[in-house]
Amino acid sequence: MKFFVFHTPELTPAESAADCAIAIDVLRATSTIATALASGAEAVHVFSEMEKLAQESEKLPPEKRLRAGERGGSKVEGCDLGNSPLDCTAELMNGRQLFISTTNGTRALQKIQASTIVLAAALINRAAVVNFLVDHQPEVVWIVGAGWEGSFALEDTVCAGAIVQSVAERLGCSLDQLIGNDETVAAVALYQRWQDDLLGLLRYASHGQRLLKLNCLEDLKYCSALDTLNVLPIQSEIGTLVSHDPRSTVNPAERSTVAQGV
Ligand code: MLT
Repeated sequence: MKFFVFHTPELTPAESAADCAIAIDVLRATSTIATALASGAEAVHVFSEMEKLAQESEKLPPEKRLRAGERGGSKVEGCDLGNSPLDCTAELMNGRQLFISTTNGTRALQKIQASTIVLAAALINRAAVVNFLVDHQPEVVWIVGAGWEGSFALEDTVCAGAIVQSVAERLGCSLDQLIGNDETVAAVALYQRWQDDLLGLLRYASHGQRLLKLNCLEDLKYCSALDTLNVLPIQSEIGTLVSHDPRSTVNPAERSTVAQGV
């Protein structure tokens, strides 16, 4: 396995794809997606545009769907939800499909959607992501941070480092066997520095500060907790994530290829 970290969707190669690509938006899209699936949502559909989200979600009866929209950290008017993982309760999510559009996170997922396997990671489900990687050992793994409007985000990079560090520990191999680019070295170093104070790092992060101004301290606390949810969002078809069943006998790489009609 070789890991290639890209700090933003813009820095991610457009002309090729990975054996496994992982989108990270710790604050907060991938934390929200993981929480929605852990709370019983049947599927999460991601959109970069609200208009398309509205159109597609109309195809389901109101009792089967929820619409979540966020821009600049705030809820989009007319949506059922914004982008707080704390709103994704079992009562609301159970048996429903979530249609979501956010400023950066959903764009990161779209950027990697052609990869053989597509996962969504956050600090809260880091262990589930690592378990999958250790079990399947894909050759080339991209980790793509959502960033903020094209810029680097501390919280996404620290999560990338947390994944790579944990894979090295689980496989009992040295980090240099896993490192594919310089960004991966930087991500691991960031995690090693902040692993005992992830909330402190999220408070420093520019989007953390933006969310604090919007009174979202509880979101920061929730999103900074490591390995609290055993759920792995995996792309089942382009733009749709479901919860991966680790007992499934279907090879995720084959399922993904079929879903893409390749
Ligand atoms: C995004 O996609 O940029 C974020 O998830 C923003 C947020 O915190 O809601």
